[in-house]
Amino acid sequence: MSNASETPHRRLEPGRIVIASHNPGKLREIEDLMAPYGFKVVSAGALDLPEPEETGTTFEANAELKAVAAATASGLPALADDSGFCVAALDGQPGVYSARWGGPEKDFAMAMRTVEEKLQAAGATTDAQRRGSFVAVLCLAWPDGESVFFRGEIEGQIVWPPRGDGGFGYDPMFQPDGHSRTFAEMSPEEKHGRSLDGPALSHRARAFQTFSKACLESA
Ligand code: IMP
Repeated sequence: MSNASETPHRRLEPGRIVIASHNPGKLREIEDLMAPYGFKVVSAGALDLPEPEETGTTFEANAELKAVAAATASGLPALADDSGFCVAALDGQPGVYSARWGGPEKDFAMAMRTVEEKLQAAGATTDAQRRGSFVAVLCLAWPDGESVFFRGEIEGQIVWPPRGDGGFGYDPMFQPDGHSRTFAEMSPEEKHGRSLDGPALSHRARAFQTFSKACLESA
C-alpha cells in the first residue's frame, strides 16, 4: 500500500480499466469522469466479479478491498471508490455505513428521514449545527499488488425537506457551501464542477481530479 502524498505515481496508460463498483449511480459518474482520457471502462459487474463485503471501518480500507479484489481477479488495473455522507452532529454518521442506512431496498428517502430524525433528537436545529460533508476515497490497485489513494471532500448545509430529483443517495438533503441549490437540484456537470484545471465541486470529482493529475496526465 502507498499513500498519494508520499510516492511518485505510475502513469496509467489509456486502455482497459475495471471500475470496481456495482452501484449504477457511481458507475455513471466515474464513466463520465474517465471518458475524456480515452479509457475503456469495464464494470466489475460486467466481468461477473464478486462484490466483496465492505468490512472496513474507514473509506480507505473499503476502497482498497474492492479495488484489490477486482485487480487480482481481472489482471487489470482497477479503480474503486468508497464514499459516504458524514453528519457532524452525529459524530460523522452514517459515514462508511451510508449505503447500509438505505436498507436492502436501498431506500434513501428513508435514510434521509433517519438522518433528519437523529438530528432532531440531538437538538440540531440551527444552520451551524446542521453541517455535513460528502467524502470520497478512490483507490487505484495494480494487478501486481500496489495501491494508491486519493481523497476528496465537500462541506455543506443539511436541508430539510429534501429538494430536487437528480443525483442519488443523500443528494436531496445536501447543499454545498457557496451554492443555493442541493446536489439533487444540480445537473451532473454542476455537481462535478467539471473542468480539470478549474475547481471540482463534488467529493468524487475532487478525488478524481487529484487521481487524474497524478496518474493520467503526463508526469
Ligand atoms: P459505497 O461507497 O458504495 O459504500 O456507498 C456510499 C453511499 O454513500 C451511497 O450508497 C450513497 O448513499 C452515499 N453517497 C456517496 N456519494 C454520494 C453522492 O454523491 N450523493 C449522494 N449520496 C452519496
